[in-house]
Amino acid sequence: MGESMKVGIIGLGKISGQYLATLSSRDDVEIVAVADLDAVRAEEVAARTGATALSVDGLIAADGIDAVLNLTVPEAHADICARAIAAGKHVFVEKPLALTVADGAELVRSAEAAGVLLGCAPDTVLGSGVQSARAAIDRGDIGTPVAASAVWAAPGHELWHPSPAFYYQSGAGPLFDMGPYYLTALVSILGPVARVFGHTSRSERERMVATGPHAGRAVPVGVDTHVTAVLEHASGVVSTVTMSFEVWATRMAGIEVYGTSGTVAVPDPNRFFDAVEIFTAESGEWASLDHCAGHREGGRGLGLIDMGEALREGREHRVSGELALHVLEIMESILEAGRGRRVVELTTTTRRPDPIPHLPPPRT
Ligand SMILES: NC(=O)c1ccc[n+]([C@@H]2O[C@H](COP(=O)([O-])OP(=O)(O)OC[C@H]3O[C@@H](n4cnc5c(N)ncnc54)[C@H](O)[C@@H]3O)[C@@H](O)[C@H]2O)c1
Repeated sequence: MGESMKVGIIGLGKISGQYLATLSSRDDVEIVAVADLDAVRAEEVAARTGATALSVDGLIAADGIDAVLNLTVPEAHADICARAIAAGKHVFVEKPLALTVADGAELVRSAEAAGVLLGCAPDTVLGSGVQSARAAIDRGDIGTPVAASAVWAAPGHELWHPSPAFYYQSGAGPLFDMGPYYLTALVSILGPVARVFGHTSRSERERMVATGPHAGRAVPVGVDTHVTAVLEHASGVVSTVTMSFEVWATRMAGIEVYGTSGTVAVPDPNRFFDAVEIFTAESGEWASLDHCAGHREGGRGLGLIDMGEALREGREHRVSGELALHVLEIMESILEAGRGRRVVELTTTTRRPDPIPHLPPPRT
């Protein structure tokens, strides 16, 4: 790979705009090709970006592409990743890594065997919000971490999304949709999880599309819509997690880490740069913490940029397939624990991604 990583994007839907905004102005990443099942969409993006529109098979086979950025829907993640890896390309994929741990593990294995890197969203943990919270905790600002709480709760995506059906089917629900942000943040701050206990449930509330051409149409519910879990990290720290489509309002949303001498309120892990707050026993009050680590600018795509730098510098990349596989196993295990009302031991682990020093705005 030369100074710039040549990237081909597969999947040009809603989220691709955010990646293009981050990547298109960089000099260390070049978007050389784009593809989508919808060829017209690929032609449109190609015309706007100067990339070449290819078929999906054509892009996977093409010479001159170092990495495939897979922004397709979750059901297609594993298949596209596997084919790109088999073609000798590095891959970065949107979350979740795959729909099952078995498929995710196979991707991690095949990337390693092929000698290519596999990375996976979310990369929001590379922003200055989560990184600064982590730096404060690592340097002992709240003493020794004891426990954490992570809550994401909403009444349901059918209230704003015009085609919300997929959010209520297997592979989605509140846990698989929002869990990757919260669990990736917890693991990168507090380390891997050893075992989980979970409980899942759903109300009888009827779901109805609220906006767009399908407004008024019923949304069949095929997944549990309220998920709670207790995670025991390998370090002994205990995280309680709630992910729910059953809550009309809450004042408890977010992540808090409780230490022997204080609390850190970690900013929204679905975002990059929000404020960190800290309460210490010594100060006796909440204060905002100056950002002191992580990327200060950027957006979705920072994980791919980190992967390119890692390749050039011969170091480990941060939002790796291994990390995503561990998060996927936590989610699968929470559902399994909930079904069986039991504790599930995890079989995977991961290293905490290396912290990021406070980086200036990226080169353009
Ligand atoms: N939309 C968001 O706000 C958001 C936020 C964070 C992450 N994500 C994740 O990003 C991914 C994509 O989400 P989206 O909202 O952009 O979806 P989308 O439905 O808007 O776009 C997906 C695109 O992928 C294409 N596609 C599907 N299967 C394909 C295949 N086999 N080969 C080639 N192209 C294929 C579709 O034609 C479509 O253009 C998902 O994994 C989602 O979880 C989305």
